Amino acid sequence: MSPETDAARWAIITGASSGIGKALAFEFAAGGFNVLLIARNRAALAEVAAECSDKYRVETEVVLADLSRMDSIDTLITSLASKPRRYEVLVNNAGFGIHGDFASTDIEQNIQLLNVQLTAALRLIKAVLPSMLSRRSGRILNIASVYSYSPVPFQSVYGACKAFLLSFSSSLQNELKGTGVSVTVFCPGVTQTEFRSRAGIGEKRQDSGMTAQAAAHIAYVETMRGKHVVVPGFLNRLFVLFAQVLPGWSVPSLVRFINRQRGQNHS
Ligand SMILES: NC(=O)c1ccc[n+]([C@@H]2O[C@H](COP(=O)([O-])OP(=O)(O)OC[C@H]3O[C@@H](n4cnc5c(N)ncnc54)[C@H](OP(=O)(O)O)[C@@H]3O)[C@@H](O)[C@H]2O)c1
Repeated sequence: MSPETDAARWAIITGASSGIGKALAFEFAAGGFNVLLIARNRAALAEVAAECSDKYRVETEVVLADLSRMDSIDTLITSLASKPRRYEVLVNNAGFGIHGDFASTDIEQNIQLLNVQLTAALRLIKAVLPSMLSRRSGRILNIASVYSYSPVPFQSVYGACKAFLLSFSSSLQNELKGTGVSVTVFCPGVTQTEFRSRAGIGEKRQDSGMTAQAAAHIAYVETMRGKHVVVPGFLNRLFVLFAQVLPGWSVPSLVRFINRQRGQNHS
């Protein structure tokens, strides 16, 4: 990363065009951060950027990137490195789900999911960490899921990817102790966003779960406090508790049962 000539604090947010990422953009802008917003949907990102600058008087930049593609991730990293800014916060939020039995799902789509949620996150952390460490100040927020704690039949790659994020974030947090850089891993349950319809997850109730705004507010506050693992909401914490205390062999069946009760197709 280039030397910083600008003392203004920037927050980088992936997947800022909708849902939790969009709500996080407003949270960080309200907290006085300039925001660098990343996703593929140009019009949606431009709207978020306009609202951030109009309401909160912060600087914004929109970067179009398809994080499922290596060349697009490379271009993004190069563009970050070319700007001498104080990147104080990195939010790895972009993600999508794939619903269906692994035997039937498209392998290319599964690999794209890994690229968006893992490769891009690791590359971005590597890009911002050196300057955070030399400043002894920075916050990394990784958006995982309650599924970080359990295998998820019919969303097997998604669930495994969220487990990776929790494990990796915990190791990184430990390695960074005393450096002034904190790592927060946020593990929401069902949240009212476009995630489920995009993943083709049909459910009886479309309005269940926390709002994206409520989830993002908790994530923002706890990130700024430097908390390590955040599971928002009582029912989500109960799920995590069960997933941790029940015998490992029973958890996939429990998750499958819960999702069938919710009316999810496939399960
Ligand atoms: N909603 C839930 O119930 C729930 C529960 C637990 C965890 N989460 C996690 O929360 C995070 C945010 O999801 P959400 O619920 O807010 O869903 P969402 O409304 O569908 O938002 C997903 C965001 O990711 C971006 N994205 C997807 N594919 C991308 C790609 N190839 N390149 C760049 N950006 C991409 C989308 O932007 P573009 O389409 O514009 O590129 C969008 O901004 C995800 O990591 C998800 O796994 C969600």
